[in-house]
Amino acid sequence: MTMQIAIDGPASAGKSTIAKIVAANLNYVYVDTGAMYRAVTLAALETQLDLNDEQAITKLLPNIDITFAPGEPVQKVFLNGQEITAAIRSTKVTENVSLVSAYAAVRTVMTELQQTIASKDNVVMDGRDIGTTVLPQAQVKIFLIASVAERAERRYKENQAKGMQTSSLADLEAAIAKRDYLDSHRAVSPLKKAADAIELDTTGLTIQEVVAAVEAIIATAL
Ligand code: C5P
Repeated sequence: MTMQIAIDGPASAGKSTIAKIVAANLNYVYVDTGAMYRAVTLAALETQLDLNDEQAITKLLPNIDITFAPGEPVQKVFLNGQEITAAIRSTKVTENVSLVSAYAAVRTVMTELQQTIASKDNVVMDGRDIGTTVLPQAQVKIFLIASVAERAERRYKENQAKGMQTSSLADLEAAIAKRDYLDSHRAVSPLKKAADAIELDTTGLTIQEVVAAVEAIIATAL
C-alpha cells in the first residue's frame, strides 16, 4: 500500500501551506483536493450553469478533466488543459464552491479521482473529508484548526502580500465562518474530524512551528 497522510480542517487553517511543505520534505505527492472542487465550480460558472441545478452540474462532470503540474509558490492547476491556477482563487469561485461541492455526484467523481492518485503514489492530501471518506485507511490523519479571527487575518495578510484586492477583515471572517458552516452541515461527507485523527490547533503558531508539530506526529506514526 502507498503511504497516505490526510490533512483535513476548516477553511484557511493553513492546510495547503503545511501539506505542501511536508510533502516536499518527505518527497511525497501533494494533492490539493480543494482545488478540484474549485475547478468544478469554475467549470460550472464558465458554462453559465445555474449552480442550484444539481442535475446540470452532474451532467457536466464527464467533460471535466483536472490535472496538476509542479509550480511555485503554488501548484499549477489545469481544467481540460487550460491553466486555472489563479482563476480558482477568485471570490466568485470561493463564494460558490461549498454549494457545488455538496452535490453527491460531484463528491463521487472527485473522491474516485483522489483515490486513484493515492493508489499510485505516496501522498499528503489536504481537504475536508480525506480522513473520513477518501482515505479512511490513511496511516496518518491530522485535523488542523485555528480560530476564525486568526484564519481571517492570515488570509488578509496573504491577499495583501499577493497584491490582490482584499475584502475587509470582517468580511473575510464572515465568509470563512459561512463556508465552515456549509461544509460542516452538508449531507454527504461533511467536514468532520475522523475519530482517529489528531487535532492540532495552530492559533498563534508560525508555519515552521506547525510543520514541526505535523512532522512529529508523522514520525511517531510511520
Ligand atoms: O481547501 P479549499 O478552501 O480550497 O476548499 C474549497 C472548498 O472545496 C471547501 O470550502 C469545500 O466546500 C470544498 N472541499 C470539499 N472537500 C474537500 C476539499 C474541499 O468539500 N476534500
